[in-house]
Amino acid sequence: MRKKIVAGNWKMNLDYQEGLSLLSEIVNMVKDEVIGNQQVIICSPFIHLHAIASLAKEVDNVSIGAQNIYQEESGAYTGEISAKQILSTGAKYVILGHSERRAYFGESDELLAKKVDVSLKNNLTPIFCIGETKEEREAGDYFNIIKSQLQKGVFHLSSEDFSKVIIAYEPVWAIGTGLTASPEQAQEVHAFIRKEIEEYYNAVIADNTSILYGGSCNPKNAPDLFSQADIDGGLIGGASLKSRDFTDIIKVFN
Ligand code: G3P
Repeated sequence: MRKKIVAGNWKMNLDYQEGLSLLSEIVNMVKDEVIGNQQVIICSPFIHLHAIASLAKEVDNVSIGAQNIYQEESGAYTGEISAKQILSTGAKYVILGHSERRAYFGESDELLAKKVDVSLKNNLTPIFCIGETKEEREAGDYFNIIKSQLQKGVFHLSSEDFSKVIIAYEPVWAIGTGLTASPEQAQEVHAFIRKEIEEYYNAVIADNTSILYGGSCNPKNAPDLFSQADIDGGLIGGASLKSRDFTDIIKVFN
């Protein structure tokens, strides 16, 4: 049975104290809410990780993640942070392949595949993001884009390693725009992703892979999105910075 997951991506927001306060609010709001096979993940900037990982221990099913790691394990890489260092804070997840990393920092499929490998080698679970741009959607090319990102980013993994990966479909044109994909649009791509996984690996792995939707997800649209057969939760940006909105999205699965 694949996990239902609501993950928050704080991006480059909140100073140290603001992050602690927000996490405390969320922990207090979800203490009795996260049940069964549901998982809540908070992906914060590096500065918060250790402190919020300690806070998150107060509740079951709430874990912490980073938003990036360097692709080497250690060494003379001034300013970078390794998977092992992230793991040492108590974080268990890492977002990789986010469209903002691909676009602003030029992260290629090949580089992301290396980051996936070093994450898994160091026992971090990747939340691997894929998604098409507005132009690719309008050109009707989005299935090819999604397929290519899967093939070059994660399909090199063994069945055992791929089974540890969480996939997040984030149509770039929906991120931060308020232009959420319709449930039908999102379901179409999620079903395609699951089919690709089945064809490349097998039906059991495909059925057990959690595929999250990201892109202007909020408490109003989350119920219709999360009710879709192949949408297993969300990767939430803006709404994860508001404790009430984020916990209302978590409660959709309850
Ligand atoms: O990683 C999640 C993020 O890209 C979605 O952002 O603000 O559209 O929910 P937002």
